[in-house]
Amino acid sequence: MRRIVLAEPEKGGVAATWSDGTTSFWPAIWLRDQCACSQCRHPSGQRLFEIGDLPEHPRIERVTTQGDGSVRVAWTEGHVSIYPAAFLYEHNLKTRRAAAPITLWGADLAALPEGDWAAIARDPAAELAWLEAYHRYGFGLLRNVPARPGMVAEVGDRLGFVRTTNYGRLFDVISVPDPNNLANTALGLGVHSDNPYRDPTPGVQLLHCLVSDAPGGDSILVDGFAAAEQLRTEAPGQFDLLARVPANFRFADKDADLQARRPLICVDVEGRIAAIHFNNRSFAGIDGPVELVEPWYAAYRNFARLLKQPERALAFRLAPGDLLVMENERALHGRTAFDANLGRRHLQGCYVDKDGLESRMRVLRRHVADAQRAAQ
Ligand code: OGA
Ligand code: ZN
Ligand code: ZN
Repeated sequence: MRRIVLAEPEKGGVAATWSDGTTSFWPAIWLRDQCACSQCRHPSGQRLFEIGDLPEHPRIERVTTQGDGSVRVAWTEGHVSIYPAAFLYEHNLKTRRAAAPITLWGADLAALPEGDWAAIARDPAAELAWLEAYHRYGFGLLRNVPARPGMVAEVGDRLGFVRTTNYGRLFDVISVPDPNNLANTALGLGVHSDNPYRDPTPGVQLLHCLVSDAPGGDSILVDGFAAAEQLRTEAPGQFDLLARVPANFRFADKDADLQARRPLICVDVEGRIAAIHFNNRSFAGIDGPVELVEPWYAAYRNFARLLKQPERALAFRLAPGDLLVMENERALHGRTAFDANLGRRHLQGCYVDKDGLESRMRVLRRHVADAQRAAQ
């Protein structure tokens, strides 16, 4: 890692030069707020002061680089703060904070990101590797998950926290007479994000295959982010329309009337694609403005076309014991039709919040790093 070779007060903050010649600057108020001394932070790490308790323009008396590479700042108010080099390295305010690396994919993805459930359940390093791949691609397959009912929610609670909905803690995907949802027929399903009529939309969907004897019923996955990036490149005006005009989604049966209003493409404050909400079954139209309806539908149609391109579709067949975990607002899923007269097909699904899996990944990174240090 780079070292700090020089740190000194500069107008309004601290400037540093690193061993590779690059420079950083941290404004005084930012540094003062990040002080981690025992007066400023509880042992839990939580802040003990409020913003109004800090001097509005903290003044620096002295800056010194210490033997361990950390930077010590003495403030004129009499307070002393110490910033480890690794902390300063992670917070280079001159460059935009890097996003978690993701890889967009299409039908040519060389291998499905997958892991063996037994290995993952006993080995944190294997679980971490699987989670890292899951985050990169927006989905991951778990193999050899015991094909027994209820297991999907056990896996959900291991990776995060299962979110109970009006469908229950978990739901069966099985062809039934008089279903309240096309998922419970033998019809094919175009690629979609599940339940965009919920607020929030489920972050993660799990689908566990228990029985797959019927002909057909292959799974299809499409990288919604990749398709949206294609739209942004080829038709930026259409991309903006889908990102700006909210669409309505609705699911209603005798017990529920769920409604939410959100754009088909959500972009974060830095312009990155954050979520796709695409569900033909529960799309309930837009509210205008009237002059945007025609162009919005043209954009919707074009986006739907991009999502349907064969070169976007990963197709594979789930076998009993396979459990597919998807970032619901990125990896859109569907299936081909199956023949329920010639065999049975039974999946179970559940939803998990996204933050749980992200937390799990960070905790495992800590475990694995600690174990590596201990082994050295
Ligand atoms: C669903 C769904 C896919 C399948 O239940 O939401 O998309 O393979 N099912 O049956
Ligand atoms: Zn302090
Ligand atoms: Zn679905």
